[in-house]
Amino acid sequence: MKINGKHYQSIWETNSEVDSISIIDQRFLPYKFFVTELSTFDDFCFAIKEMLVRGAPLIGIVAAYGCYFAIKNALTNDLDKELQIAAKKLLSTRPTAINIKFAVERVITEIGKLTNVEAKIEKSLEIARKLRSEDIEICRNLGQHGVGIIKEIYEKKGSTVNVLTHCNAGWLATVDYGTATAPIYFARDAGIPLHVWIDETRPRNQGAKLTAFELLHENIPHTLIVDNAGGLLMQKGMVDLVIVGTDRTSLNGDVANKVGTYLKALAAYDNNIPFYVAVPSSSIDFDIEDGLHNIPIEERDEKEVKYIEGLAGDEIANVLICPKETPALNYAFDVTPARLVTGLITERGVCRPNKESILNLFPENRK
Ligand code: MRU
Repeated sequence: MKINGKHYQSIWETNSEVDSISIIDQRFLPYKFFVTELSTFDDFCFAIKEMLVRGAPLIGIVAAYGCYFAIKNALTNDLDKELQIAAKKLLSTRPTAINIKFAVERVITEIGKLTNVEAKIEKSLEIARKLRSEDIEICRNLGQHGVGIIKEIYEKKGSTVNVLTHCNAGWLATVDYGTATAPIYFARDAGIPLHVWIDETRPRNQGAKLTAFELLHENIPHTLIVDNAGGLLMQKGMVDLVIVGTDRTSLNGDVANKVGTYLKALAAYDNNIPFYVAVPSSSIDFDIEDGLHNIPIEERDEKEVKYIEGLAGDEIANVLICPKETPALNYAFDVTPARLVTGLITERGVCRPNKESILNLFPENRK
């Protein structure tokens, strides 16, 4: 998608030798635009853990490239073992998003089929590239399937469709298009007038910083709201539809997403507002049937709650917003039970949030 009219993707190979992988360092957006090169395995782990890159689909792809760098620069020739060690480190960086597991397992399986060291290294690069291009295609398909929902609302309503979204499930969380934002771009391109309410999304404010940045540069009308405002807007009839992303959706349709999503789903349910989740198959955990009780929730540093980051003059500053001694709790995600979800927008179509409907679209995962 575009920044100042120029097309960008969130990750690319720096040169034809693939000496490094370039990423946009999202810690500094929207204030400063920095591209960083990742060239050692530790760089990849650091980038995911410290959230230079974030968003479930994107960290999966970064993890796949991380596997390539881990085995390319391995000190021994036992690449399967080296990969196991690398995978363990990558999986510990961010526990909730299933995409890291999805990507790393794909590399492990494919590499395991080969015996030659060079072939294994080449294969790991090939898989990372494939995951990257698949992600673009998947998001495009999410857009194509999701736009029908917006269109139907527009045809009934006859005026601007108001979509509410939480956190950033936009192109910066993927490679291009985004998950929750893809239907919005497709609706815009189809000439449907729309407007997006963006939850600021404390504590890290991915909505205020990243989703607002993306929509601004794509000329999509949007308004930033505080996290607590969504319920009121719904009661006032100012929200037609909620679309969010997910970091992991279990087989029964429970949806783990940025903390606060559950409260939006409750409010949407109470106000009879459709609540959709854009779910690439790389974010479906086919091994977990009950997400509410089994999806691990990442707990992050309390500093993210106690301090707020913003621009002070030209400098990015961190400001304490509570007594210094006050302890804070920082769960990064919550789980919205399937019963509150209207539907899942996947790359193969829209389905109900339950095991049967999910497996009908993805029968290769039937056990
Ligand atoms: O902590 P983050 O920024 O990596 O969280 C991920 C998210 O942005 C959201 O939870 C998102 O809705 C799912 S990723 C498309």
